[in-house]
Amino acid sequence: MTKDQKLNFVAGHFENPDESVKEFKSFLISDHSKQKLFDDFSENTISNFYFPYGIAPNFLIDGKVYHVPMVIEESSVVAAAAKSAKFWSDRGGFKTEVLSTTKVGQVHFIWKGNADKLKTLMPDLKDRLLESTQHITGNMQKRGGGILSIDLVDKSNEIPDYFQIKATFETVDSMGANFINTCLEEFSSELKSFFSESPYFENEEKNCEVIMAILSNYTPDCLVKVTVGCNISEFDKIDPNLTGEQFAWKFEKAVEIAKIDTYRATTHNKGIFNGIDALALATGNDFRAIEACGHAWAARDGKYKGLTDVKIENGFFTYTLTIPLALGTVGGLTTLHPLAKKSLELLGNPGASELMRIAAAVGLANNFGAIKSLITKGIQKGHMKMHLLNILNQFEANEQEKESAKAFFEDEKVTYNSVDTFLKNIREKVISDKAVLAAE
Ligand code: MEV
Repeated sequence: MTKDQKLNFVAGHFENPDESVKEFKSFLISDHSKQKLFDDFSENTISNFYFPYGIAPNFLIDGKVYHVPMVIEESSVVAAAAKSAKFWSDRGGFKTEVLSTTKVGQVHFIWKGNADKLKTLMPDLKDRLLESTQHITGNMQKRGGGILSIDLVDKSNEIPDYFQIKATFETVDSMGANFINTCLEEFSSELKSFFSESPYFENEEKNCEVIMAILSNYTPDCLVKVTVGCNISEFDKIDPNLTGEQFAWKFEKAVEIAKIDTYRATTHNKGIFNGIDALALATGNDFRAIEACGHAWAARDGKYKGLTDVKIENGFFTYTLTIPLALGTVGGLTTLHPLAKKSLELLGNPGASELMRIAAAVGLANNFGAIKSLITKGIQKGHMKMHLLNILNQFEANEQEKESAKAFFEDEKVTYNSVDTFLKNIREKVISDKAVLAAE
């Protein structure tokens, strides 16, 4: 089908097909070459799905100021990140450290043979695997990356005859999924040849069934750490009902709770990913990979825990997030998506390590903002204030009604019902005013 045929087919599933075609088409980009680019990102594209593109300004990270692009639909996330960025920029900013940048790929295979013999032959196999991928790794090596290690993992005690070739990679500024997967698929065919050709194997040992070859999105050795810190007296003014010391104590308890309770830990970590995902999306990175990895990392001790750590020592508060972030700044959508490209330019065209630092800082900022609200005024006040416009839009409020509502709800609690009542009241008043005028 052509794109139009696809759209008409889909529209046929709606109550009003003509209106639906119009609605889908209204989100297309008028610049045809740009639209074509978007169409080509995926399969069966019939329209675009817009998200807000916002900026959390003034992040001071390792002494440098960044204005961070965030793509997110949740109304309060950019505001929370910006507020935290401002708070910490006056207190030394975010200090980061990239601890490692290694990624992992695996060839999973079933082989019925003598494992000790295979272990002895590993140096040979390793040389063959490296040799077979030389045509792929050459360019990456020039950029400072490539294959770092290749090991045999014997998992036959968990699944009979199951082994892995586990390789580690340095992919420099690219996220590296395509590079790693291409290498691994080459490994697979070389592995099969190795078993079938080697004189050391006989009969059944000559066969190896490759189940799959794929990178792992678990990258515990692609790790970044971000820290903020200040004297607890700096918290004195956060809430009129709490001293800085009481604030720090409550904060510490909130972080402790996320370490022992999975229900809370999940929400705690979700708040971190509010920031990280928004930046990942804005820079064309694979946020699903980053999320999957972060949650696996959060459960690395066998229990799912909050990802942040707090320390209060001699009146000094230190808050840290350590998280694996396999991000890229070249390849994939990072330079293909026009706005991802703009995002990277706004950040000063960072390399992958620098983007890891920025993402970790945004994650910590969002989490700090969330905990700060939760242990003081609660989350709903700020959240609903930001959500007010969404509710007004649901009630199809006009610009004048929106302005009145914003003024009215400055000191009032925003709820769906309170906005509904407010609009009903002002709309009734407008009608009755009009009636009075007409009568006059
Ligand atoms: C909402 O998107 C995120 C929070 O629930 C995070 C948290 O509870 O820490 C506010």
